[in-house]
This record gives sequence, C-alpha cells and structure tokens, in this order.
Amino acid sequence: MCGIVGYVGHRQALDVVVGGLRRLEYRGYDSTGVGVLDGDRIAWAKKAGKLTNLDAVLETAPLPASTTGIGHTRWATHGGPTDANAHPHLSPDERLAVVHNGIIENFIALREELEDAGYEFSSETDTEVVVLLLHRELQRQPDFVEAVRAVCRRLEGAFTLVFADAQSPGVVVGARRNSPLVVGRGDGENFLGSDVAAFIDYTAEAIELGQDQVVTITPDSVEVTDFHGAPAETTTYTVDWDVSAAEKGGYRWYMLKEIEEQPKAVADTLLGRLDPDGQLQLDEMRLSDDELRDIDKIIIIACGTASYAGLVAKYAIEHWTRIPCEVELASEFRYRDPIIDRSTLVVAISQSGETMDTLMAIRYARQQRARVLSICNTNGSTIPRESDAVIYTHAGPEVAVASTKGFLSQVVACYLLGLYLAQIKGTKYGDEIDVVIRELQRIPEGIQRMIDEGEQVRKLAAELVDRTSFLFLGRHVGYPVALEGALKLKELAYVHAEGFAAGELKHGPIALVEDGLPMFVIVPPRARDQLQEKIVSNIQEVRARGAHTIVLVEDGDDTVLPFADVVIRLPKVPTLLQPLVATVPLQIFACELAEQLGHDVDQPRNLAKSVTVE
Ligand code: AGP
Repeated sequence: MCGIVGYVGHRQALDVVVGGLRRLEYRGYDSTGVGVLDGDRIAWAKKAGKLTNLDAVLETAPLPASTTGIGHTRWATHGGPTDANAHPHLSPDERLAVVHNGIIENFIALREELEDAGYEFSSETDTEVVVLLLHRELQRQPDFVEAVRAVCRRLEGAFTLVFADAQSPGVVVGARRNSPLVVGRGDGENFLGSDVAAFIDYTAEAIELGQDQVVTITPDSVEVTDFHGAPAETTTYTVDWDVSAAEKGGYRWYMLKEIEEQPKAVADTLLGRLDPDGQLQLDEMRLSDDELRDIDKIIIIACGTASYAGLVAKYAIEHWTRIPCEVELASEFRYRDPIIDRSTLVVAISQSGETMDTLMAIRYARQQRARVLSICNTNGSTIPRESDAVIYTHAGPEVAVASTKGFLSQVVACYLLGLYLAQIKGTKYGDEIDVVIRELQRIPEGIQRMIDEGEQVRKLAAELVDRTSFLFLGRHVGYPVALEGALKLKELAYVHAEGFAAGELKHGPIALVEDGLPMFVIVPPRARDQLQEKIVSNIQEVRARGAHTIVLVEDGDDTVLPFADVVIRLPKVPTLLQPLVATVPLQIFACELAEQLGHDVDQPRNLAKSVTVE
C-alpha cells in the first residue's frame, strides 16, 4: 500500500506534494519521491527510506518552482526499497513521470515486450513498464490523456496510477483499478490522493473514483471517463474528518481499518502467483526446485501471532506435501539444540521482518546449514535480507500493534508455500492445486461477510465487558485460531484469556470452568465429521458445568445449537482454510472489548509493534 499525491493549481507544487506525502507516510515509507514540471522535462528527486531522507536531498538540490507535480511514498512489493526502485518512474527523455500503488500482475510479459522494442529498464519494479508503455503510446498518438487510457487497457492486476507530462503543463492524470484514488476539489486548484489525507489541509470537497476510471485534473476542471473515454458520472462529497482521522481513513483506530483491509490483503497476497500456464510462481523464491525437492523436514519459527500462522501452516503443509513440519517459538528454537541440516527448510514468519528472537533463530539455523525461507510483510527488512528465499505478503503497512491483516496474509503465504512445494514434489496434481487456489480466491468475500456481520460480536463484547477470564477452544486448524483469539484479548483488553486444543480440556483445564465463564469454541467444518462430533461433546461438557458457550460454526451446521448460548455463523469454506474466516469475529470482539474498557486499541500498554530485543 503506497501513498500517492498529485497537484495542479496556483501554489508551489513541491510544497503541496511533500506535505501530502507527510500525511500519507503511514501507508508506507520504504522510499519517497517527487516530480514537478520544468520546461520540456520533469524535474525529480527520489530517495530510499523515510520522507526525511528526501527532505535532505531537496535541501541540497532543490527542485525548480512549478505549479504541477506528483509524489509517492512507497510500500515495496516488487523490488527492494532502493533509490532506483523509488517512484516516480520516468520515460527515457524525462518527459513523462508516473507514480503507482498496487501490483501490475502482467508486468513480466509487458517488460519483455518493451525490451524487445528496445527499451532499457533502470529498476526492478512492475511500475516502470507503465511509463515506458506511455512513452511508446505517445509515439503513436499525441493525446496525453488518450494515451494514458490506452495504457490502462493493457494492464492487469490492481493499480492506482498518477501521471505527469512535461508537454502538458497544468494537467495531471490519474487512473484506478482495485486501488483507491480520490480527487480533492479546490478553488483554482485540484488534487489527487490515495486517500483524503493527501489534501485535507486544503479542501474537504472530494470525489471518490470508481473502478476502471481515468481522471484528468487542471486548476479549474475535473474530467472523469472510463478506460475507453466514455464520460463517467461523479459525485462530490464533503469530508468531515479531522486530519488525524483522515490518516486513519476515517476510522477511530488503525486496527479497525486494518481489520477491514483484510479482504484486500488476502486478495493482494494471492495476486500474481499464477503464471500464464496456471502454474504457481513465487517470484521472490531464490531456492531452486531441486533444492526444495531435497527438503525432508520443515521447521517453522516465529513469535506470537506469527507463530499461530505457523501452526495453521503445519496442518496444510503436511497434508499437501507429506513433509514433516514442526512449529517452534523462535525464542526457544536455538536453545534446544534442534536437529537440523542441509535438508531442513527453516521457515521464518514475521510481519515486521525485524523481530530479534526470530532473526537470531534464523542466524542459528543458517550456521547449522539449514536453508531459510522467510514469510514477511516488510520488503527489504532484516529477516528477508538474511534468508535464502522470501515470500512477501502484500498486506500493506500494519500500524496497529495487534496484528490482524498481517496474520491472515501470513496464513495465505503459508498455504502458497505448501502448494508450491506440493507442485514441485508432485504430491498434488496441478488440478488439485488449482481447486485450492480457486477456493482461496473466494475467501476475501467470506472475510468481508464476517466484517459486515461484526455488529453481533460487538454487542457480545458489550455484554461481557465485566468478565475477567475467557477460554477459547478449537481442534485441528481451529486450535491455532483459539490461541490467536486468546492472544488478541490478552494484548488488547488486558484480561485472562487462554486457548486450548479442545481435546486437552479434560486433562486439567476443565477445572477452570465455572458458572458463566465465557468460552469461545471454533467448530470445524462438518466435512471433518469425526472432529466435529468430538468438539460438540466438548461443548456439552463445558455447558454442563455452567460455561457461557459462544460457538463459531459454519452455515447449516445445527448440531451445536442445543448447547450454544451464542452462535456466530461462518461461511462454508474448506477445512484447512477456515482460520481465514473464523479469526475475524475474534479480532472484532477483542477490539471492541478494548474500546469498551477505554484502552488505547492501537498501542496497548507494555507492547511494541516490532520487538527488536531478545
Ligand atoms: C500480534 O498481535 C503481536 N503484536 C505479536 O504477537 C507479534 O505477532 C509478534 O511480536 C511477532 O511479530 P512479527 O510478526 O513482526 O515478527
């Protein structure tokens, strides 16, 4: 997720654009850059790292005065956070510049086409193909906006694009598909932004663009069409947020925003993973197929929520690949003298890519000659840099300390790893893998449904606001969900919460059960009828002892109804994928309980977003 700003008007474009980037920096800060019109070229500056690095560059080498400009703050997806990969990307003659948020899914084919046409690339990004396509299009027809539309018609995937053309002063053009782009309407000036925070300092009049639309702004006009030039209707609305709310997209907490971003985080993590032949491709995978075929053991290491993603992964990876898969807490791993060698694949899962426990664990693993693959949400962070291979999740920056979209996208990346290993080891046929991929591609709608039905869970939190202890039960992949639900409650509401494998209850924890004790139970899909029957008897055991049973169960399964005080319905999904929908109500519950208790949801006490000490 990146931050984009475009401006045309009467002010110094550089001031407006850099100011807008500062408001958008929460959307990503791997690199930043700006471009302003300067005669027959675009004057530009771009730098890896936070906006302060760009400020320093502009201090020593200021850009010329201009009233037309664009800017970008990057959350790296393709290509590390380097100066060369920073946006804007320019045409060879520096006449054209583009900034981009999203993933151009067909960029490899487009890059080959452009290289065959004689173009040379100066970055590893998918974005650069866009500005070179535009450069070539303008050789064919001179109209800037029509050329932008022609380029958009070639692109697949998710994108917000904003263009500047040195030969079109006073004009900035934007386009969007599946990524946000908002117009800010001013008096003798107009703005484009990834969200309203980009221009909230200047205007509250905004226009939200629709799917597959192109917008042309000048100081006195805003024109919107589809990708073929047909005019599109737009509605202006007034933003009633203050600046801090605007930076959270109008949400009270980043966590709420990130819960609602989960459908897109899952969809984006799946984007671009299938090649034109339908084969899985993990483009950051730097381990060869032969090296991966040699793997005879997998050890997943992680901390906290990331370790629960690993527990989900264990079930899926062993089922699909028949490779033994262990899950270890990173802080324990290297002190237990683990049995690892060249045929061991150590998989490090980390949203931040900076967790010291996990980093030290992979350093140890590499000393023991194990191959290391990391699953990470932060491009270019330390853990992927010290791994043999990496699978990036594309959840966008996760600001709230309590991980939500980071967790779901980690689980998806683990599924992709398991399916990829099954593909190269031949333990699953291509059509079997395809079935799972298609089911995964439907999951975002299931997650969205759980978000839409969140009111039931928020009311439940209000009813249970005075409880001081909660238990969570699950079986199979529902067990890690129980652990994650308990962790969310601990870290947000500061109450006792524990997750158990439901079968463990009778071996001690059932002594905790007393009248009115809230117990969440995640019921596996009926497809796993043996498991399902056992957990139904677990519910009866605790209900008979007075527990207040809150049962998460798929649509149509009524076997639990006689023993459930509260029923939270889940969409029907395959067993292994159920954590992607079952976790969402538990996130919403924890977030709401914290809100009810008056806690700081985004920055809970004693915690940090990235634990960079052992
Ligand atoms: C999750 O809500 C917590 N913030 C914490 O458990 C976190 O998952 C853990 O510290 C691992 O962080 P990482 O994914 O950045 O390595």
